[in-house]
This record gives sequence, structure tokens and C-alpha cells, in this order.
Amino acid sequence: MTDPLSKHHPLSPNGLDDLSRNDSGNVSLEQLLNARLSRRSVLKGGFGLAASSFFGVGMGTAEEAAAAVPSAPFALGFNAVAKSVADALTVPPGYRATVLWRVGDPLHGNIPDYANDGSDSAASFASRAGDHHDGMHYFGLNQAGTAADAANSRRGLLVLNHENITQVFLHTSAEVAAGMPATARVAAQIDKEVNAHGVSVIEVVRAQGGFRVNQDSGWNRRITAASVADLSGPARGDDLMVTRFSPSGVQTRGTLNNCANGYTPWGTYLTCEENWAGYFKTPAPAALSARARTALKRYHGAAAKPGSYGWANPAGGDASGADLYNRWDLTPGTAAASDFRHASNTMGWVVEIDPFNPASTPRKRTALGRFAHEGAMPAKAVAGKPLVYYMGDDARNEYLYKFVSARNWEPADAALGGLVIGDKYLDDGKLYAARFQADGSGEWIELKLGHPAIAAYPAYAFADQADVLIHSRLAADAVGATPMDRPEWTGVHPVTGEVYLTLTNNSQRGKVGGKPLDAANPRYYDDGEGHTGNPNGHILRLRENGGIPAAAFKWDIYLFAAESDQFGNPHINVSGLSDDNDFSSPDGLWFSQAAPGLMWLQTDDGAYTDVSNCMMLAALPGRQGDGAPVEIISRAVPSHGNSDQSVTAPAGKPATPATLRRFLVGPRGCEITGVSETPDGKALFVNIQHPGELTAAADIAHPARFQSCWPGAAGVDRPRSATLVITKEDGGLIGR
Ligand code: FEO
Ligand code: CA
Ligand code: CA
Repeated sequence: MTDPLSKHHPLSPNGLDDLSRNDSGNVSLEQLLNARLSRRSVLKGGFGLAASSFFGVGMGTAEEAAAAVPSAPFALGFNAVAKSVADALTVPPGYRATVLWRVGDPLHGNIPDYANDGSDSAASFASRAGDHHDGMHYFGLNQAGTAADAANSRRGLLVLNHENITQVFLHTSAEVAAGMPATARVAAQIDKEVNAHGVSVIEVVRAQGGFRVNQDSGWNRRITAASVADLSGPARGDDLMVTRFSPSGVQTRGTLNNCANGYTPWGTYLTCEENWAGYFKTPAPAALSARARTALKRYHGAAAKPGSYGWANPAGGDASGADLYNRWDLTPGTAAASDFRHASNTMGWVVEIDPFNPASTPRKRTALGRFAHEGAMPAKAVAGKPLVYYMGDDARNEYLYKFVSARNWEPADAALGGLVIGDKYLDDGKLYAARFQADGSGEWIELKLGHPAIAAYPAYAFADQADVLIHSRLAADAVGATPMDRPEWTGVHPVTGEVYLTLTNNSQRGKVGGKPLDAANPRYYDDGEGHTGNPNGHILRLRENGGIPAAAFKWDIYLFAAESDQFGNPHINVSGLSDDNDFSSPDGLWFSQAAPGLMWLQTDDGAYTDVSNCMMLAALPGRQGDGAPVEIISRAVPSHGNSDQSVTAPAGKPATPATLRRFLVGPRGCEITGVSETPDGKALFVNIQHPGELTAAADIAHPARFQSCWPGAAGVDRPRSATLVITKEDGGLIGR
């Protein structure tokens, strides 16, 4: 029997997000200087948490920052939920959580109920909820159900991602027992897995206690990893996009590993392709030109691989006549029918979907760059100014990016809607990568062919701007962007305009031979439980000059995640987290629009799960600069070959239960990811992803041994990823 694959299995596509493909050596001089200076101060003594004088430019005094902090417009109005390892979902007293949309639930009334024993057909999955619910957005629909009405909180379209699968729960116990080797798969199993990925569009209607799905709705739609998508923007039609499926390089099949999301002011949804690289079968490097080898290695790694789920490898070969399986094989010129060497260039994009046009073909917006796109969250659209999106590349030591549209926003376009408006704003613009300096300043560096470092990059000769976009990571390497501790969600504070970025963790930070500490990634430690590097993660905050998206910014570390009792060590628990608000591995981060200033924070953790399942917290953040620079002393991690080191980093004001409070704890083995709300702020949609994912294949016939059975009956049901609707029993505003 083979191991089951799940999101955090090291062989699964999402297991790859803790692998580094960044050998660029990008480290700034400032980082090295700071590390050396700090090392000396460690040797001189003092283990106290020091607020040091800061040698940066224009950080502003603490008094200036405090004066600029808007007083919180309201207080958090719920009791903190306790940490828990129970196989249960917990919300505060006075709140109700109902399950809305579980993996396998039928999109239409004529699809049979989900058997949830692996017997449901592959084809039926194109009309069922996919697995691993992730990023999500609510779009208001008018009360008649005929057109968009952004203000309606009683009827809407909920659009959500299906990032991945828990393979062991998709197939029958007999199939699991027979093994599912990645080198010889059953074709129908592949088809089911392909259909369980992608995006759901479902009409939801306010009902007693929450919402229900309208199965009769003509808006309901599934987009899967097999659905045709158009390539749009500068890389459309490029030689590097040509496949046997689209000899002119203008289309591809599927959107894949849809993680977090974004949205546009004209009512469309953005789905972001994250860990697509692991799905492809990759050739031996010797089969490739030096240039192709460099490109492949930067995204897929150096070794030949069968593809994590083996979608390129149906037993007996691809007999589909339509390259349904060959298309996952990047080997040049294998099998007469196949040349999909560029197929992975058609993945890794931000993809625009128009939920109000069910017949429309999704468009992959290549101007926003190609990498492991976590999400794409917008700055507030301002008339006469460009539109701006902030985007994380979630893999170890990758970068933060920003897209700025070439055209200025015209509010009249909001009412027009549709992908044609997307063509106007999302197909032409500038892509930037972020560099963080030790003094708390930072800069956005444009990734353009004319940049001297890109034009003369010795590691890879870019052919044109399309090549720069297709290989954004290589371009960002060339210009010296700062390698980060896995950039996940971004979010823009609706009041301050400041940009928040979760950095979930980095098991290798500070390891000799890896990326050293720097001010923006300033901690390494061993948590005493086998987790090293930066096991718990942190959250950065950026203020762009004058509040207008610009080339320069100031930044601080809003929060350091930690276990509250982490050896009582203020160099680990830098933000002073307590029992009511400690957390590990921040991932989802989203600002309420109904309650401006309220931020939701979600975790995807494997380091603190001995104490608590993953969780969601509510926060009322202040502003960049509201804290003080802190000297953080990292103790040597012997297995990493490093030594005690100290880095000074600009830190935000420590948290208190008034500014950060745990709101929800999920069932065992899940992560919490994806959040949206009705415009009135009285219903919150939250996704529970992969409960029970660590269940062993050997236990598949024994529900009593499952890691989780949520949301079904304990000891009976297979667990299911699901969307929750959270409401307040008194009908009030969530969180307040
Ligand atoms: Fe899909 Fe980086 O989380
Ligand atoms: Ca995520
Ligand atoms: Ca994650």
C-alpha cells in the first residue's frame, strides 16, 4: 500500500511549498552588516529585549506613530475561544456556525447526494463541490436573482477555490488498499482528482440560521483542472506558451491548485494558482537545453519526477485520444502524440473569472507574473489612479510582488463588469518585487526587460518581456528582491491603506547554506519539538509613501507568531502573545469591509498542533511604526550549523487580548482558510480545509481511527472540507 497523499504530505503538490527553489543568493549588504553588528552586541552580553536606537531614515518617532494611529472604531465583542485539540468546531458563545458546502455536495438538484465512500463517479465531480476549500468571495445578487447587486446581503454568488485533495478520502477503501502509485494510476481516479480541483460558483440565499445553496440556480458552475482557459496579456501567444493543445499559445486546460483569491471593482473573481509545479512530470535535466534547465529548476526543482499524483501516468499510457494525461508531462517530444514541454508555463497565474457570466471562459492574466501565487488582494480603487494588487509567492525564500495597472481607474467601469474590463486593467501594467532594507525602509523594483540587472542576468537570458513575466522568479532574483519566510496572503487595511503580509514559517531560515537572518525575517530557533528555523511565522506591514502606491515604502513586523509559553522567551514571543491570542503559522489574512479596521487571521499550522488545532483570530491592528525596534537574539540551532545571532527589526506594538483574540478553532487536521462576508457584516463565510488529512491509508476502512470525522458523525464518516456560515444569534455584526 502506498502512502496517502494529502496537502502536507512531503510528496504532495502542497508539500512542495516548504521546498526552496531559490538558489539566487539574494542577500542585501545591509542584512549582512546588520547581522554582524548584532552578533557583536550579543557577545557583549545582555539577553534582554532591547529597544535600540534605530539607524534608519524617516522611521518617525514613536510619538508621531502613536499620534497617527486611529483609535479602534469599536471593541472586539466576543469571548476568546480556548485552544483545543478536540475534533470539533468551536465559535464564541452567542455565535452559530452552520455547514453550507461540503466536498461532494451536488451543484444541481439532479445530481445524487454524495455517498462519501469513494464510490461517486469521476464525471459527477464536475457537478459537485471540489475538495480543499480555500480563498472565497461573496458577490451580491439582486433579490430577483437576475443580476449583480453588490449591496444585497440576502442573496449572492459565493465563489470559492478548491485547492487540492485529500486523496485517501476520494476513492473507495478497496482502491486505497490496492495502492495508488504515481507511476501507474487508474485513469478514472485521475479524472476524479482533476475534477475535484478548481473553483465553485454557487448561488446562496439567506435562510433560517444562515444561508442555503440554491441548487436550481443557473449561476451555479464548476471550473476544474480540465476546464478551458484563455491566456491573456503580454505572454499570450508567446512561443513559451505553445502546446499541442494550443499551437498558437493562446489557451490551456485547467486552473490548478487554486489557493487564495482576490476580486475586482467590476465584480469579477481572481483565483490564484499556487502549488501547480508539483503536479507535472518533469524530465531528466540532461534532456533539456541549458536555458530550459535553468527555468525548470527554478520552478520544479532539478530532479526528474513522476508528478506528485501521477496524472501523467495512467497505467498503460494515455489512451484518451485528447492528451488528457500527456498534458501533465513536461518531457520534450515524448510519445508521438505529446509535446507539452511548455504546459507548466500555462499555470502559475492569477486567473479572472466572471461569476455573472456562466458561459465565459476564465482568463489567465499574465501581466501579474508567474509564480506560486497565493493570492492577489487589491488596494482601494481610487478614481484617476492605477489599480494595485499585492501578491505573495508562497514557497520558502520567495518574494512579495505588486502589480500596478497601466490605466487609471474609471469608476464607471464598475457597473459595466465582465472580463472585457479585466482586459483593460489587468493585461497591461508594471510588475514589481519587494526589497526590504534593515533600516525599516523598502523599495519596489520593477521587473522589466530594460532593467540592467535583468538584461545582463548571467543565470538566464530573457528573450522578451513575456519571458520576464513567465519567469518572474528569475527576474526577481536578478534585481535582488528579498527572500522571505513564505509569503502567503496580503491584505490592505481599508482605513490606513497599509499592506499586511503573512509569512507562514520557514523551516530553513538561518541554516548554514540557506538564507541568513535579515531584519524582515529576523528569527530562528528550535521550539524544542522538532521545529526549527522560523517555525511559527510572522506578519509584515508596509506603508507606501504618502499612502499612494509608490516605489518606496516603510515597513515593520506587525506580529510575531509564537506559543505564548515559548520558554518565557521574549526573543521568540516578541509580540507578547497570551493564552487568548497565541497562534502559529499565519496564512489567511482578510479585512472586513463591513467593519473597517477588523482583520481576520487564519492559520495553517503544523508546529503548535499538539496544543491546538488551526484557528481564526480577530484583530484590530494599529499602524506601521506604532511599536519600536527590537533586538532579537536567536539561539543557535545545532542541526542548522549556526550560532547565536542577533538582528534588530522594527516591530509593531505588542498584542493584547483587546487587539487580538481567538475567534474560532477548527477540527483535527484542518487548516482554516478563506473568508468573506455579506455586505451588512452579519454573515461570515469561512472555509475548513482538509480535516483529518493525516489519516493513514491503512486506516481507511476503520473510521474510528480517522484523525477527524468532521463535519459528520464521530467514528462513522469520512471527514469533508466545507464552507461554514457564521452568524450571531442576536443577528448582529460579526466580531463586534
Ligand atoms: Fe495554499 Fe500558501 O497556501
Ligand atoms: Ca494558504
Ligand atoms: Ca499555507
